[in-house]
Amino acid sequence: MGRGGPTLGVAPPAPVRLADLAGTEPERIATGLSELDRVLGGGLVPGSVVLLGGEPGIGKSTLVLQALAGLSRGGRAMLVTGEESAAQVSRRAARLGGCEDVEVLAETRLEAVLSALEVHRPAVCAIDSVQTLVSEVLEGAPGTVAQVRQATAELLRVAKTTDVSLILIGQVTKDGALAGPRLLEHMVDCVLAFEGDDARAHRVLRATKNRFGSTNETGLFEMGSDGLAPVADPAALYLAEAGERRVGSCRFPAIEGSRALLVEVQALVGSTEVVPPRRFAGGIDRTRLSQVVAVLSRHAGLRLGDQDIFVSVAGGARALDPAADLAIALAIASAHRGVPLAGGTAAFGELGLTGGVRPVGHLARRLDAAAAQGMTRALVPAGTSGEPAAERPAEVVRVAAVGEALEAAF
Ligand code: TYD
Ligand code: MG
Repeated sequence: MGRGGPTLGVAPPAPVRLADLAGTEPERIATGLSELDRVLGGGLVPGSVVLLGGEPGIGKSTLVLQALAGLSRGGRAMLVTGEESAAQVSRRAARLGGCEDVEVLAETRLEAVLSALEVHRPAVCAIDSVQTLVSEVLEGAPGTVAQVRQATAELLRVAKTTDVSLILIGQVTKDGALAGPRLLEHMVDCVLAFEGDDARAHRVLRATKNRFGSTNETGLFEMGSDGLAPVADPAALYLAEAGERRVGSCRFPAIEGSRALLVEVQALVGSTEVVPPRRFAGGIDRTRLSQVVAVLSRHAGLRLGDQDIFVSVAGGARALDPAADLAIALAIASAHRGVPLAGGTAAFGELGLTGGVRPVGHLARRLDAAAAQGMTRALVPAGTSGEPAAERPAEVVRVAAVGEALEAAF
């Protein structure tokens, strides 16, 4: 190779200026399931690959069949089923209704699936599940790391070359061993987690990775006798007993993408002999819990050093945003004192290490959400710029420091 000449004689490909790529935003294929489309960022992108993970029985096959049945713009939909027979799929379809146009292929041979995609070219194809596919070029049994990786790599290639949009279902086991899905996460465009708890009929869909949209949106479904439906009143979903005053409880208006949800932070505090005392964080960030406890001890005079502290968000919801600090602090303070907060109080704000309550985003939307759920009082950070909320609790108390917040809250 001569100096300055092409490497190994390869003709150099021409890069394209970004300005010349503008306006090439792909048209999305809506699935007709508003909650799924919301999490995807407005529907499926042609040629993209979405991985849908979740425990057995959570409703992945149901979600996917409903999505295929509802495709917009008359897009053709194909379902490759390896876990269930075509007859089983047909029984589910009868229960859901409206699935007549979905084409079903009961197949586990990877190469057969690839050639079906290349020839039939549906707009969207779902694979249920990616762990059932076997490539004839590999030795291993279905579900092994090598097989799952090979299947995904080949499916990705075909999606990009044919513009077929793929949804790969990945089984996740109860103990969190994500044999298949975990190792595929970096390969696919979008990773969706479908979760729920056994006690409730509702299901939560979250994007943990999304090359074409945000990962803040959540989809909220209810499983009924004829499949999954959007939750009717999502803003109130996580409020167990609305309006009730309880020791150790504080309401927090959480922002999940384009939606504001009022959630309930619950705390239990009790003396312990255990050293160091227990700290449990469910649905909140563990590090933030430690920090909030330290701030309460140092700047609000709460003696928490010999106390077990359990904090969780009711109903399996999450409040990972630093804005939840103030609600966490008030729930702990309420549990510690054995006194409930004044009725109908919601709170938000980030706590600094010096005990200050720092402004957070979305003031108006949070106040709006609190008012919509009947909160009459809100504790908010002082110094938040006063964007007017359409609706707001009757009393909005601006607090600058954690001690001030505790005084105002009880
Ligand atoms: P399924 O979609 O098969 O779950 P996965 O593919 O994740 O394993 O459905 C799981 C459960 O949902 C199953 O126990 C039956 C229930 N179900 C309903 O309650 N209503 C319905 O309309 C359907 C189709 C299923
Ligand atoms: Mg299934």
